[in-house]
Amino acid sequence: MALERTCLAVVLAAGEGTRMRSARPKVLHAIAGRSLLAHVLHAVREAGGTMTAVVVGLDGEAVAAEAKRILPEAEIFVQAERRGTAHAVLAAKAAIARAPDDVLVIFGDTPLIRPQTLTRIREAVAQGTAVVVLGFRPQDPAGYGRLVVEGGELLAIREEVDASPAERAIKLCNGGLMAFAGPTALAILERIGNDNRKGEYYLTDAVAIARAMGCKAKVIETEEDEVRGINTNAQLAETAAVLQERLRKAAMEQGVTLVAPETVYLSSDTKLGRDVVVEPFVVFGPGVTVEDNAVIRSFSHLERAHVGKGAQVGPYARLRPGARLQENVHVGNFVEIKEALIETGAKANHLSYIGDATVGAGANVGAGTITCNYDGVAKHRTEIGKDAFIGSNSALVAPVKIGDGAYVGSGSVITHDVPAGALALGRGRQVVKEGWARRLRERMSLGKKAMPGK
Ligand code: UD1
Ligand code: CA
Repeated sequence: MALERTCLAVVLAAGEGTRMRSARPKVLHAIAGRSLLAHVLHAVREAGGTMTAVVVGLDGEAVAAEAKRILPEAEIFVQAERRGTAHAVLAAKAAIARAPDDVLVIFGDTPLIRPQTLTRIREAVAQGTAVVVLGFRPQDPAGYGRLVVEGGELLAIREEVDASPAERAIKLCNGGLMAFAGPTALAILERIGNDNRKGEYYLTDAVAIARAMGCKAKVIETEEDEVRGINTNAQLAETAAVLQERLRKAAMEQGVTLVAPETVYLSSDTKLGRDVVVEPFVVFGPGVTVEDNAVIRSFSHLERAHVGKGAQVGPYARLRPGARLQENVHVGNFVEIKEALIETGAKANHLSYIGDATVGAGANVGAGTITCNYDGVAKHRTEIGKDAFIGSNSALVAPVKIGDGAYVGSGSVITHDVPAGALALGRGRQVVKEGWARRLRERMSLGKKAMPGK
C-alpha cells in the first residue's frame, strides 16, 4: 500500500504569475475563500502521510507565511532565480536527498487537485514506476505540455513552445502533478538541462530522461476539472466557477436548500446544516457555520460567523468576523454584527450596528440602534441583558451595560450603565411652541426674513 510508504510532497510556488499582471504572487490569489496554495496544501494534508516542502521565490515571505499558516510543519525552500519547474524542485534537494519512498511534485497553481488522486499516483510508484504523470484531455490544450505516448508507453512530454505541429495536435496533456520513485528521483532531476526555446529547466524532461536511464514512466488520467492550471485571471475565474459548482452540489447533497444555487457564493470551509435554506444572492466568506433549520435570506454577506439552529438572517444582513448567533435569533435587514454574541431568541430586525457586544437571550434591539464601540482610540464592549428592550435609534456608548429586562427609550444616547428592570431615557425633553410654524409662514408671505420670535 502506497500510504505505508514515506512520501515527500514538493509544492512549487515560486512562479511570479506574470500572466496575471498582478502585484500579488500568483499562488496567493484566492478562490472560494482560500488561496490557491492553501487549496493545494489542504489536499496534501487530507491525503495524509506526507512530509511537505514548499518552494518559494526570493521575495516569497508572504507565500511562506501562508504555507506555514496551513501546514506549520512544512519546510520552506527558496528558489533564488526562476529558472524553470525542474530547477524549482531542486531547490528542495536537501529534502529529496533524504530518500523518501515517493516524491510528489505539485504545482501551487492547480488548486482543484483531490487528495485521492495524490494517493492514486503514489500507488503507481509503489508498483515500480520511476516517473508517473497525471494526464488529462483539456477542451483547449493551449499552454499545456503534450504527452507523447506510443504503444501505451509514455515516451516524453513536449512543452507547447517546443512542440512540432504533429505534437501540438496531441490531445493528452500534462496536468502538472508528477510522482517520482524516491531512490531515483535526484539522479533523474539532476540530469535535466535547459536546451529549449525558453532556456528553462523543464520538469517535464524527466520522462524522456528516466526512459533513457532504463526506468519506467507512466500516465494516469484524470478529468480536466481536477487539473485546471491557473495562469491568467480568466482561468482563475473559470476555476473558481468549477469549484463553486462542486461546493453547491455538495451542500445540496447534505440536505441544504439553495433556492438559486448559481447565485450563492460559498467558501471551501462553509458548513451548512440540514434543512438550512439559503435564498438567492448570498455570499459566504471564509469561516462560516450555519446550523440546522436556519434561513439565510437574500443579499446577506457572512464571514467568520456562526449561525445557530433555526436562526433567521437577512435579507440584507452582514455578519462580520466573530458574529455568533444562538438558536432562533433574528437578524434583519441592514443589520451589521461584528464580534458579538447574540443569545437565544434575541432580535435585531432593522438598521443596526452591533459590535463588540453581548445581547442577552430574548432581548429586542430596536431599529437604528448603534453600539458606539470605538472612541477613536480603543474598542469597548456593550452588554445588553436578557429580555432588555432597546428603543429605536438609540446610541449605546461603550463601555456600557444594560441590565436584564431594562428599557431604553427611543432616541437615547446611553453613556452610563442601566440597572436591571430600569427605564433609561437619554435624550432632551420635547419642547412644543404653539403657533410657531404658522407665524413663520405668515411673516415669510409678507417678505420678511426675520424669525417669528418666541
Ligand atoms: C507547466 C508544465 C506543463 C503543464 C502545466 C500544467 C513545465 C515545464 N510545464 O506549465 O507541461 O501542462 O504546467 O498546468 O513544467 N514555478 C516555480 N519556479 C519556476 C517556474 C515555475 O516555482 O522557476 C512554479 C509556479 O509557481 C507554478 C508551477 O511551478 O506553481 C508551474 O509553473 P508554470 O510557469 O505555471 O508552468 P506552466 O507554463 O503552466
Ligand atoms: Ca501553470
